[in-house]
Amino acid sequence: MLHDYWETLRTWRDDVWQDWHVGLDRYADSVAALLGAPPGSVLTDANLSTFLARVASCFDYRPPRNRVVITDLDYPTVPFIFRAYGRYGAQLDVVGTGGPHLDQDALEARIDERTLLVCVPHASFTSGATVDLSRLVTRARQVGALVVVDAFQTVGVVPFDVTALDVDVVLGGSHKWLCGAGTAFLYVRPDLVPLLTPAATGWQAGDRALTFRPSPGWAPGIRRFAGGTPYPLTSLISQVGLDLLLDVGADAIRRHSLALTRRLLDRAEAADITAVSPTDSARGGVVCLDVPDGEAVKQRLAARDVICSWRGYLRVGPHVYNTLDEIDLFMDALEEELHR
Ligand SMILES: Cc1ncc(COP(=O)(O)O)c(C=O)c1O
Repeated sequence: MLHDYWETLRTWRDDVWQDWHVGLDRYADSVAALLGAPPGSVLTDANLSTFLARVASCFDYRPPRNRVVITDLDYPTVPFIFRAYGRYGAQLDVVGTGGPHLDQDALEARIDERTLLVCVPHASFTSGATVDLSRLVTRARQVGALVVVDAFQTVGVVPFDVTALDVDVVLGGSHKWLCGAGTAFLYVRPDLVPLLTPAATGWQAGDRALTFRPSPGWAPGIRRFAGGTPYPLTSLISQVGLDLLLDVGADAIRRHSLALTRRLLDRAEAADITAVSPTDSARGGVVCLDVPDGEAVKQRLAARDVICSWRGYLRVGPHVYNTLDEIDLFMDALEEELHR
């Protein structure tokens, strides 16, 4: 793939770069396959924030329906973007417990006829708490609100089907569970696409982009959410990891992930370490552990080549390539560091 890309640059002609779309579309369709979305319903770009701001720019935030309900477990880019849209009338409503858990009843109670968008993480990046999307979509539909899901922390490790769930917008990226880097994706419910017109846009979203004149209309389908010249390299590279995941299959990945996280949870319980992630089958791919002096503990583990993250809790994210033995190695090392 790198070689193909290099060939494109080496033999550059005025139109040869258009072939990049073949690779980009292949990557997008592979993501679609993982999401239960139809081919052609997913688009890639550099990062989730770019896409979310583009989606946010589709609305005029006119009262009475100008509220955007989010949670205090959303990734920081979500409040940052919607706060910025406050200048156009967006009214942010943050639902939260202040702790690691999500109160789904409280979330649903805050959604009413004034709600334009509900933007939730499928799983929290700090605690792994998950949202019941099926319940959420049902509530949003009752009042005519749209559901936007940040699936960065689940896509590739927790199977879900955007078509069956009937969610409106799903975003995610490659560098958590898709074994890639530097590329994000956007899915919009195909029958919703023609109703949305992004103000934050670019020439590639036009229906005559390649005439190099201003387009009179929108490119068909999901491409209306494109921006400027695409950057294909990261999607081409990330295809490798995505193909591996698709070969293993979403259900087998989930089975393995549940076994790994179960082992983590059991070992944590035996060692009297508090797990703040859900412990039942609603858990995502991470187990978050509440340990004293966690950030320093993470550093000491890293010095031993034992890698986890610190997001207010120790976040342990084993994937399809990890083994139960490695979970034991991790927990042995953690216990040693805690009892030093
Ligand atoms: C839940 C979640 N959303 C979004 C992001 C990243 O967003 P962006 O691609 O804009 O950097 C991350 C982490 O990288 C994340 O964990």
